[in-house]
Amino acid sequence: MPDEPRFVPLAFERLPEAEQLARSRRFLEHMERRRTVRDFSPEPVPLELVENAIATAGTAPSGAHQEPWTFVLVSDPELKRRIREAAEEEERRSYEGRMPDEWLEALRPLGTDWRKPHIEVAPFLIVVFEQAYGMRPDGAKVKHYYVRESVGIAVGLLLASLHEAGLATLTHTPSPMGFLREALGRPENERPYVLIPVGYPADGCAVPDLGRKALAEILVRR
Ligand SMILES: Cc1cc2nc3c(=O)[nH]c(=O)nc-3n(C[C@H](O)[C@H](O)[C@H](O)COP(=O)(O)O)c2cc1C
Repeated sequence: MPDEPRFVPLAFERLPEAEQLARSRRFLEHMERRRTVRDFSPEPVPLELVENAIATAGTAPSGAHQEPWTFVLVSDPELKRRIREAAEEEERRSYEGRMPDEWLEALRPLGTDWRKPHIEVAPFLIVVFEQAYGMRPDGAKVKHYYVRESVGIAVGLLLASLHEAGLATLTHTPSPMGFLREALGRPENERPYVLIPVGYPADGCAVPDLGRKALAEILVRR
């Protein structure tokens, strides 16, 4: 028989409304300053900042609380070099033939190409894997529910935490990403989800001049 559900009291602090507003505005202003960075400094980053961000990602809600994620933290220069080489190989093939014109057109404002030096320069890479299914100790497979949604939410929290800690990130999806599973020795139930270089921006780092949709464009009231 499965265990009966158990409940504990919720730890919840009811805030005064003024405090709620102040916090919410502060957080919005802070998140408005988050930008994707593609030009990193090699300056080292305190390990705990990255560990805390991964722990924060692990607080994300997940389908049936299956927590279908693994975060591989890479700092070894030789491993970073191998990942850069493999990513650039895939990206070169994509940019030079695999991507349809429409995709290249969509990327044009970002000024990206197949070169990915940031993979080697940034002090840390966080490679996020989704666990397509679970594995019991006896090798039996366990079905996972809403894997992509769950991992996407966890990555959102990860990026917000790193930004809050004063670090810069790049959300990178070299396509295809299969090489990361082998390079990082992950089991067959794990699929690469995203590769995130983390560090400080290089001196004089510039970012694409992008606007964001206004609240009125993304919020529908009924
Ligand atoms: C799922 C996803 C995949 C992305 N893949 C790449 C990528 O492969 N290379 C890259 O340079 N940026 C990538 N980006 C970053 C976006 O280009 C960036 O978020 C967007 O241009 C908005 O810029 P901002 O993050 O500075 O607001 C990706 C972002 C997301 C959410």
